Amino acid sequence: MADNHDHHNRSGLIAFIGAMAFVFLFFFYIVFVNKGVTLNENVTEPTPADAPKFDLTTVKEPWLENEQVALAGAKIFKQNCALCHGAKGNLVGGIAEARNLVEGHWKAGEGMISHFKVLQNGITGSQMASFKQTLNPTERWAVLNYIETITNNKTKDKLEDIATFAKSAD
Ligand code: HEC
Repeated sequence: MADNHDHHNRSGLIAFIGAMAFVFLFFFYIVFVNKGVTLNENVTEPTPADAPKFDLTTVKEPWLENEQVALAGAKIFKQNCALCHGAKGNLVGGIAEARNLVEGHWKAGEGMISHFKVLQNGITGSQMASFKQTLNPTERWAVLNYIETITNNKTKDKLEDIATFAKSAD
């Protein structure tokens, strides 16, 4: 009986030492081999399928300061304007002849109404083309909304003047 008891204790001890060795080796692995456990995983909020998605087409007055409209405008800018004006509008990665939209030394008139006309008609004799066929009026206002967030020379046009102009502008 006494022998048997001893025997049980010994296998228990072996199991215990084995477990400790495992824990130690695991710890060693995590700290020195795997260089730690990263806790900065990219936790991205999953967008639920039924989450309301921002729809630019429903915006009635896209010239008004609005974070979501500006964000939509930024996307349009990347796709249609960054090529010449630079990804940030400051000509870095763009072309020298284009306007630095951040500095905003406007030559075709100041303010959003003048900028809209530039997008309607382009600037003759330059690479600045009309965007009338490419972007609908809401998209053009959205891109100007974005430019207002990056330029140092912001519009001084009265909101009611812009609203009146926008009614007749296509
Ligand atoms: C192919 C190149 C090119 C693309 C693409 C382009 N632009 Fe331009 N843009 C120019 C050039 C060049 C000028 C300067 C024209 C001049 O005054 O001689 C200019 C000027 C401007 C001006 C300044 C007007 C002023 O009063 O000085 C604005 C605003 C502007 N662009 C907005 C845009 C927006 C918004 C887009 C995209 C929807 C765009 N541009 C796409 C080349 C481009």
